[in-house]
Amino acid sequence: MSDEHYGLPAVSLGPVSMPLLGFGTWQISDDDVTAAVGTAFEAGYRHLDTATGYGNEAGIGRALASAGLARDELFITTKLPPDHGGRERQTIEESLTKLGLDHVDLWLVHWPPGGQAAPEVWQEVVRAQQDGLVTSVGVSNYSLEQIDEITRAVGVAPAVNQIKWGPLLYDVAEVDGLRERGVVLEGYSPLKATDLDDPVLGEVAQAHGVTPAQVVIAWHVAHGFVVIPKSSRPERIVANAEAARVPLTVEQVEAVDGLARP
Ligand SMILES: NC(=O)c1ccc[n+]([C@@H]2O[C@H](COP(=O)([O-])OP(=O)(O)OC[C@H]3O[C@@H](n4cnc5c(N)ncnc54)[C@H](OP(=O)(O)O)[C@@H]3O)[C@@H](O)[C@H]2O)c1
Repeated sequence: MSDEHYGLPAVSLGPVSMPLLGFGTWQISDDDVTAAVGTAFEAGYRHLDTATGYGNEAGIGRALASAGLARDELFITTKLPPDHGGRERQTIEESLTKLGLDHVDLWLVHWPPGGQAAPEVWQEVVRAQQDGLVTSVGVSNYSLEQIDEITRAVGVAPAVNQIKWGPLLYDVAEVDGLRERGVVLEGYSPLKATDLDDPVLGEVAQAHGVTPAQVVIAWHVAHGFVVIPKSSRPERIVANAEAARVPLTVEQVEAVDGLARP
């Protein structure tokens, strides 16, 4: 279900389109993230991934305030810490205050609380959506069974499951399972989860005159997976954005699929 978001490849979440490429911000400090996000905006990213747990929402808010981009053009994700059950509303209000926004585009349950599906937490996340504080709602690090449990209990399926992903973790059963449930697959740690020295990536990279890291990002986009690489270095922030436009052939995508070690 391909789509476009202001000229960027995207996937439709229904009420909003989500750019396939986002800027990951884990382990970028609140002080440093403002400049990093400024560089990301200049490089063309419009989608940011943060979390209450990253401690950098205020710094991202400063970047948003100074960027002067139209709110519609931006896609902002933040996440509910798994131990914030019972204070979901307070948590999203604090996130919005720090970000300087009246809503985020996607709010995720960061991990299954206590390892459980926790429908009571999901119910409160859905309530925040109904109240207009968040446009779309989803989960992260949930199994297909846990997704089914919260969907059955609350009557609303998550729009997205954000999971650790990359060519080595490529798993057709997971892809199909999420697709059947109408849940968008958003991958995290795309580079950390990959052996960038792999010769197959090297060959494809050489064919396009790019780096193996860029091939990994291009592979996600070719499949329609959302991908959120993080970098603190301006030249890599730019290179990772450019990667989303590297046109892999079907054969090259299949060669990278072949790295999967399920
Ligand atoms: N939901 C969850 O539980 C969860 C968990 C983990 C991550 N996430 C999200 O996913 C985002 C991405 O994951 P991640 O930060 O774990 O890992 P990642 O994006 O796969 O990798 C980041 C690492 O790769 C390096 N790097 C970046 N661009 C590169 C390039 N072009 N070539 C070579 N190395 C490059 C970075 O170093 P430099 O910074 O020095 O460039 C950094 O060490 C996070 O920032 C966060 O937003 C979510």
